[in-house]
Amino acid sequence: MHTVVIQHPLAQCHLAAIRAVDTPSHQFRRHLNLLARMLFLEATRELTLQETTVQTPLAQTPGVILARPMVFVPILRAGLGMLDGILPLMPEATVAHVGIKRNEETALPQPYYANLPASLASAEVFLLDPMLATGGSACEGVRQLKAAGARKITMICVVSCPEGLAALDKAHPDVPVYTAAIDQGLNERSYIVPGLGDAGDRYFGTC
Ligand code: PRP
Ligand code: URA
Repeated sequence: MHTVVIQHPLAQCHLAAIRAVDTPSHQFRRHLNLLARMLFLEATRELTLQETTVQTPLAQTPGVILARPMVFVPILRAGLGMLDGILPLMPEATVAHVGIKRNEETALPQPYYANLPASLASAEVFLLDPMLATGGSACEGVRQLKAAGARKITMICVVSCPEGLAALDKAHPDVPVYTAAIDQGLNERSYIVPGLGDAGDRYFGTC
């Protein structure tokens, strides 16, 4: 599996801010939005382009367009925090949704909602979730996307850990991961340490 850790100094500053326990929701939102945007820029660095010709007010000149349409798939809820940061960069993208909630006792993913477009096969698909902990939610999200026809999937997460990366690699070695950190590992409740706590609760102010 291809894993890229974004080391940009600004990304690392946003990461430190969302890790801090005393960062309030409104600041958490701002930093997560901006960090997601930076991760997305890195994840799209190698996108395939198609050559075209542009007519300026003065002359014709070569230009490019994206070769494939883009689909963003936030895993509900916390993935919405990444979508908010990324969508302004590519407002013409399609947004699909996958709802997955970890069982608090078992940490197993429980899918509860999906709304996926028919056009996934021809698209660049970006699965968005700030946390890759056990990897169960990401594996389930990728499984649903592949079952619906997606062929080119990239996972973007903010904080990952060895356990989650290994699980995703085992189930879906063809899915590259872009992340801002690979943390030490999981605690006894399957939370990432040092991590940032519960991303969805912190983003939506429900903690
Ligand atoms: C969190 C997070 C991921 C998942 C990661 O969501 O946003 O989706 O846990 O854990 P995993 O890798 O062990 O599956 P949660 O289930 O808490 O739902 P929420 O976003 O609605 O808070
Ligand atoms: N979900 C979160 O929001 N945080 C973790 O550390 C693990 C799962």
